[in-house]
Amino acid sequence: MPAAGRVVVVGQGYVGLPLAMRAAEVGFDVVGFDVDRVRVDRLAEGDSYVGDIGAARLAAALTSGRYRPSADPRDLADFDLAVITVPTPLRDGAPDLSYIEDAARLLAAHLRAGACVILESTTYPGTTDELVAPILQEGSGLVPGADFHLGYSPERINPGDPNATLEGTPKVVSGIDAASLARVQAFYDEIVVRTVPVSGTREAELTKLLENTFRHVNVALVNELAMFAADLGIDVWEAIDAADTKPFGFMRFEPGPGVGGHCLPIDPSYLAWKVRDELGAPFRFVELANDINDFMPEYVVRRLGAGLHDRGRTLEGARVLLLGLAYKPETGDAREAPALRIAERLARLGASVRAADPYVVDEVHGLDPAIGLVRVDLDPDEVAAADAVVVVTPHAAFDLEMVVTHARYVLDTRRRVPAAPNVEHL
Ligand SMILES: NC(=O)c1ccc[n+]([C@@H]2O[C@H](COP(=O)([O-])OP(=O)(O)OC[C@H]3O[C@@H](n4cnc5c(N)ncnc54)[C@H](O)[C@@H]3O)[C@@H](O)[C@H]2O)c1
Repeated sequence: MPAAGRVVVVGQGYVGLPLAMRAAEVGFDVVGFDVDRVRVDRLAEGDSYVGDIGAARLAAALTSGRYRPSADPRDLADFDLAVITVPTPLRDGAPDLSYIEDAARLLAAHLRAGACVILESTTYPGTTDELVAPILQEGSGLVPGADFHLGYSPERINPGDPNATLEGTPKVVSGIDAASLARVQAFYDEIVVRTVPVSGTREAELTKLLENTFRHVNVALVNELAMFAADLGIDVWEAIDAADTKPFGFMRFEPGPGVGGHCLPIDPSYLAWKVRDELGAPFRFVELANDINDFMPEYVVRRLGAGLHDRGRTLEGARVLLLGLAYKPETGDAREAPALRIAERLARLGASVRAADPYVVDEVHGLDPAIGLVRVDLDPDEVAAADAVVVVTPHAAFDLEMVVTHARYVLDTRRRVPAAPNVEHL
């Protein structure tokens, strides 16, 4: 039997849009609410700005009549269940929960007895019951638990990875009480293959931060190892490949130019902030991982400078072609991307910087416009004209064989290019 009920997804970004699509597909009547009118207009016209949601899927949801994008708060009226998927950035190193607060205030004005609100945004433990619950109560006059259900369920999407679907990935669910948990779980049982209940919202909030901190710390470990190995003259990639043959007790992580996106550079700091705020203690693993991963773009620039020096060139005046601006392959998401820091640093050192990225089509936010980054298509002339080509984000669309054939010097930060006299790996 198809699911039924009015669902509102507040925030139609990388997380909210896929959820809204899936909810409409299983039978809910969905309002995809966003404060960004331009985004809402694009969605209404069938123009998806989220790489994982193709035009055909969006069109099918729109024509089904079960998905309606909206920037009009009146469309929130009479919702049965609302999910908050708004950004949770850092501002000056501290969590910025203002988007969640705004979303909760908005929902409070439309909250009815018997409805359910679920937070999905990544945040520190305590946000659902300490921040969201009081805002909903104050704005609605209804009591969380007694009058409406409230829960937290972290998102696990992996943008750009077609194998990691929302529906195929187990989802952790929680509620502020048993009835809320049952309601939240019942909703996601319609959405995903398996739900994983935990005893409280704080455990669910911590689960998400644990997952991302684990990744962040392990990426930092191999990054630091890669830097030492280069100085020791040892091939770190070969060691990683060899260690990866161990069937237990080892998990593969790869070095790279630094971490980006909305998760690794930010989420662990939410946890570190909470630990420092409540316990007065530093979360040393997170701080160390931040130090190492933040240094990687600078390290790439230093390696490039050394590589150019070996070839009788200097960074100053060099023409450098960056391959990939997005923070990971097969996405157009350049938020916090290390490529931006690399481009800025190179430009400040006097290099002329060009970049090819077929996925990053919108304006790149967070990049200093003064550096005059030139966006180009990847072709043999562009490669041959560069003093150095840096593989930052190895999108499958890049013809790396062509790059090696025509490049004078390639610095490959991800070891996607086979070894050759003109190729160096990080
Ligand atoms: N992108 C990921 O891979 C990923 C994975 C897991 C979790 N998350 C978490 O999910 C949350 C959302 O991330 P995202 O990547 O989808 O962000 P996003 O920037 O892609 O989308 C957020 C959307 O929310 C809208 N918005 C902001 N304030 C709003 C408000 N008050 N009401 C309605 N809409 C509002 C924005 O206009 C934007 O369209 C964050 O907490 C993030 O950490 C992201």
